[in-house]
Amino acid sequence: MAHDSQIPNPGDFFMTFIGEDRVIAVRDSDGNPQVLVNTCRHRGNAICRAEQGHATSFMCTYHGWTYDLKGALVGVPGFKEVYHEELDRENWGLIKAAKVDSYMGFIFANMDPEAPDLDEYLGEVGRLSLKQIALRGDLKVHSGIQKYIIPCNWKLATDNVWDFYHPAITHASAGMARGRSPQQNPYEQPHIVLLGEYGHALSGPEMTEKTRKGLEASGREMSWRDRPESQESLGSAGQRVQSHPHIFPNMWVAFPGEGQISMRMPKGPLKTEIWWFSFNDPATPNNRRALETFGPAGLLEQDDGENWGESTRGMQGVVSKRYPVNYAMNLGRGEILENEGEPPLIEASINEHAQLWHYRAWSEWMSAESWQDLRERHSRVPEDRA
Ligand code: FES
Ligand code: FE
Repeated sequence: MAHDSQIPNPGDFFMTFIGEDRVIAVRDSDGNPQVLVNTCRHRGNAICRAEQGHATSFMCTYHGWTYDLKGALVGVPGFKEVYHEELDRENWGLIKAAKVDSYMGFIFANMDPEAPDLDEYLGEVGRLSLKQIALRGDLKVHSGIQKYIIPCNWKLATDNVWDFYHPAITHASAGMARGRSPQQNPYEQPHIVLLGEYGHALSGPEMTEKTRKGLEASGREMSWRDRPESQESLGSAGQRVQSHPHIFPNMWVAFPGEGQISMRMPKGPLKTEIWWFSFNDPATPNNRRALETFGPAGLLEQDDGENWGESTRGMQGVVSKRYPVNYAMNLGRGEILENEGEPPLIEASINEHAQLWHYRAWSEWMSAESWQDLRERHSRVPEDRA
């Protein structure tokens, strides 16, 4: 929904989405985050039109129904004269998220009271994903979120999070423009994959001494990883990974370089709104890189977005739909390692394990009949390693 730093004080709010529903993440008068559906209960008009800001209450500008920071209906014009004081205001408050919780400053919400608690939902891999950015220090989101639309299915953007096959080809020209020399043989680089509950996954190059030197040479501050608290919190698996963590279904923690988080908001099957949150990463204060890598002006994301759009288009034809696409890379060659107290881990070169994990989770979510059904049937490792 938002990061604590976006709504530090009572009345601060940030507008976002749960699916197609526009919601307001707001700090209430007790200091707790609330997530309110931005739909007036009278005729459905928006009760807030600003993307972020500060309010003491939300008044609908159609007829003036007014709601407090917890969503209670506190003002009804003509309550006495035309409603004869009979309108049961208690039952006409805003619809709100049944569950709102946060982890390391990141606020999550769910409309369903039966949904798993955040801690259960994130599990080790979800928590580790957020730690990779939160442990850097006192994070603050820069005001102003970059938002733009790509004509693609959202899953292709997610698939690309763990696609280390494409950079040498797709981003070759961006690399040249930035004066970077091409990697010797990217296909030989050691990679690590962590598979999480409910479809979370973290996959990318292993944080070897060589990888770290390369990152530092390009200006990335990595010393936060050496602090004893960070090491303890990351655990040995967390110390071996450096990218790319993804919380199912659509939250990409883009590190190590840019101090950014991307949300991929599906707007139907053929359109995705991409949101970039940039942090004043205390470990890497150079936010220029955040702008030139991802976002609408980012060299890499312009390359990537073009591919997602073309892949979406290329798979829509009557004939092309009849044929599968290929996820055979390194298939059957990764062994899931189970180390006590750590998430299941695969050591490999470039692979498509995380993508397959994501799609399998997606299909399990789509076919589950209830949370309980999903809990019982969703893929777990190591018991289920099919
Ligand atoms: Fe909001 Fe009528 S639609 S007061
Ligand atoms: Fe890319």
